[in-house]
Amino acid sequence: MPSISGEEFLFWKKKQLSKGGDSQSFAILLDCEGGISNEDLNKLTINPEHNLLLKKNLDYLATIWEDHLLNSIPIQYLCEKTFWRDLELIVTDKVLIPRSETEIIVDIVSKIFGKNSQKLFFAELGTGSGAISIALSQQYPMWKGIATDIDQDALEIATKNYEKTSSQSNLKFLCGHWWIPLESFKGKLDLVISNPPYIPKDTYEKLPKPVKNFEPKIALWGGEDGLKHIREIVQKAPLFLKEKGWLILENHFDQGEKVKQLLIKNRFSSVEIVRDFSNVGRFTIGRYK
Ligand SMILES: C[S@@+](CC[C@H](N)C(=O)[O-])C[C@H]1O[C@@H](n2cnc3c(N)ncnc32)[C@H](O)[C@@H]1O
Repeated sequence: MPSISGEEFLFWKKKQLSKGGDSQSFAILLDCEGGISNEDLNKLTINPEHNLLLKKNLDYLATIWEDHLLNSIPIQYLCEKTFWRDLELIVTDKVLIPRSETEIIVDIVSKIFGKNSQKLFFAELGTGSGAISIALSQQYPMWKGIATDIDQDALEIATKNYEKTSSQSNLKFLCGHWWIPLESFKGKLDLVISNPPYIPKDTYEKLPKPVKNFEPKIALWGGEDGLKHIREIVQKAPLFLKEKGWLILENHFDQGEKVKQLLIKNRFSSVEIVRDFSNVGRFTIGRYK
């Protein structure tokens, strides 16, 4: 393991950041490839005379940083890793990099169900890296869950993440289009969660390069108005939810009111738009009848 003085490391870090990029991405690189956590960095800023042990040498880390800057490749894909809530997840370009605002879905579930120790049954439609379902399966070990995705490659990543992070065996993964893998669970679900692709066609074309060129289109593209998938999920939800079962959806920043009306039209009650950290109506929730 290469050892380096704190002062030399801080000088090198400043030089790398002066080439471009943001400090959050740089912190991911340091943590994933260098073995230097945010906590280590904070300690070092207070006490720069300490020595540091790195997992990889500085030239190697600088090469990855340059690849990220020159080719606009998300740092998470280069490191094949990301952090989400308290999970460390594998991510490749087969899955969307789970976003920090999506973490709120787990808080919404906690707010609705509290410290529920009953044996509830949940499903997540479009699990990607598995982030939401894995977090729920850990938080509620008594629950049973099914996480689905249309993409088998994504499900393989999600399964690896589950095996790597969880000591539970309460989550299963099924492949298929939205509700199809859940045919045999009609009327049995207490909770369904989905962060489906919801980016409208015109917005998709203008997405920043790192997103448009590297993240899977199938995870983002929501058709002409962005609501293609949300409509299908909401319309069929009454067939699969138990009476009083909850549906929690993530949507685009300006879709909350439309999704709310869609839920009301499909006989959902307690319909509510929930705001994210930036005060955007990012989630719409409701209860079937
Ligand atoms: C926005 S990503 C969300 C991924 C993950 N749940 C998260 O929050 O980070 C949408 C996911 O839906 C999946 N998906 C797209 N179309 C689908 C379909 N027709 N049926 C099932 N899953 C689909 C994509 O493969 C992708 O993993």
